[in-house]
Amino acid sequence: MYLGLDLGTSSVKALLIDDDQQIVGSATSDLTVQRPNPGWSEQDPASWIAACEATIGKLEQSYSNALAAVRGIGLSGHMHGATLVGAVGEALRPCILWNDTRSHRQAAALDGDPRFRALTGNIVFPGFTAPKLAWVRDNEPDIFAATKKVLLPKDFLRLWLTGDAISEVSDSAGTAWLDVSKRKWAPELLAATDLDESHMPALVEGTAPGGTLRSALASKWGMRGNVVVAGGAGDNAASACGMGTVRPGEAFVSLGTSGVLFAANAAYLPNADSAVHTFCHALPDAWHQMGVILSATDSLNWLASITGKSAQELTDEVGGELKAPAGVTFLPYLSGERTPHNDAAIRGAFSGLAHQSGRAELTQAVMEGVAFAFRDSLEALKAAGTELERATAIGGGSRSRYWLRAVATALDISIDLPGDGDFGAAFGAARLGLIAANDADPLGVCTPPKITETIEPDRALVPAFADAYAHYRALYPAIKGVQS
Ligand code: XUL
Repeated sequence: MYLGLDLGTSSVKALLIDDDQQIVGSATSDLTVQRPNPGWSEQDPASWIAACEATIGKLEQSYSNALAAVRGIGLSGHMHGATLVGAVGEALRPCILWNDTRSHRQAAALDGDPRFRALTGNIVFPGFTAPKLAWVRDNEPDIFAATKKVLLPKDFLRLWLTGDAISEVSDSAGTAWLDVSKRKWAPELLAATDLDESHMPALVEGTAPGGTLRSALASKWGMRGNVVVAGGAGDNAASACGMGTVRPGEAFVSLGTSGVLFAANAAYLPNADSAVHTFCHALPDAWHQMGVILSATDSLNWLASITGKSAQELTDEVGGELKAPAGVTFLPYLSGERTPHNDAAIRGAFSGLAHQSGRAELTQAVMEGVAFAFRDSLEALKAAGTELERATAIGGGSRSRYWLRAVATALDISIDLPGDGDFGAAFGAARLGLIAANDADPLGVCTPPKITETIEPDRALVPAFADAYAHYRALYPAIKGVQS
């Protein structure tokens, strides 16, 4: 048995698979995000451990024999978070999350140093880890001085699970301190934020062992012998392992809290200017590119919260059949945007509202706006040399057929849907646990699921979506001009 643990933004998920990669069981526990100031987004690292214990406790209730047979654990987690750890392994402040934009000034300053783009292959986005440490240095100097290690969120869980400060290259590529081509820390970039390699965890590949479960936890959960904890991956690379998006030309589109258009690459192909992310994959000698939009299902959840409806009720009101864009345009920049704008200050907008614009029209516009944001990412990937004809859909938003049709039509690519099953980050993490425990062949394990349905672009509506996309593109500079 192998256990995948995915530390998501809104929940921790634990999933058990057997040697044939069949899912035995899964459980989740919710997490909350604190937003104490505009642009801030934080989580208490202690809540991750509590949620992890609760989730494994739930698995234990229903699958105690399977849990006791676990030989390998894989970790996945939301990326970029700055977890500052003191001398005895304690978290010194709440973790500053991936969608926190407070450090935009520090990010711009680091991005102005040409060594960052040259070595990391990426813009230094405010969401990345390095500018957050610069913010802590500038605003909370005592905490900065007490910081002994900077850990990514899932690696803080690993510290609790194993006692070791270890990370792996896919998640670490999102810190802005990694030499992404060489897959190792870049001392000159660490020095630019007044840190050095002693502040960083040791690095392994995602498929390699990265610690052993502490005996106290192993006996608590009934596990015997050495339980290997794999390097694991950042949540996007872990999802790619779950979906089998590991060979060049393979891609997925993730409609989660954030939206991601992810393509696997056999080589390091950076193009920072297009605001595409170029990171190490969780498999050795592999890299990936992705466009990231900060508020995907988060946009619909926002509309749901202010209308007092659930996201499902909102999408039900729009119906199943794709409609032409109706003149209301939504920019999903609720917490700024990464690809293609790298703009932490921009905020969302509705334009084109009329007397007849009701709740359903707003929901339609929100789904279209997110689809157009994915189109921006598709264009960014093209500029970075990656052409896509199809992508597999994952994430909570992919339950809406309407949304998938809008994405397929806005991008003019086929969207594949896997059959019933769970191929997300927790499954990918479990696969990495299996590989690390058995020294198995990564490509042999990370195979794609069976595709049971393909959503094709609605040919009749492709021109209307192209026109509406042109309008969407024109809105950003216009809105930018009036938002301070
Ligand atoms: C990727 C990113 C998000 C988080 C959220 O760069 O910031 O996808 O990993 O889960």
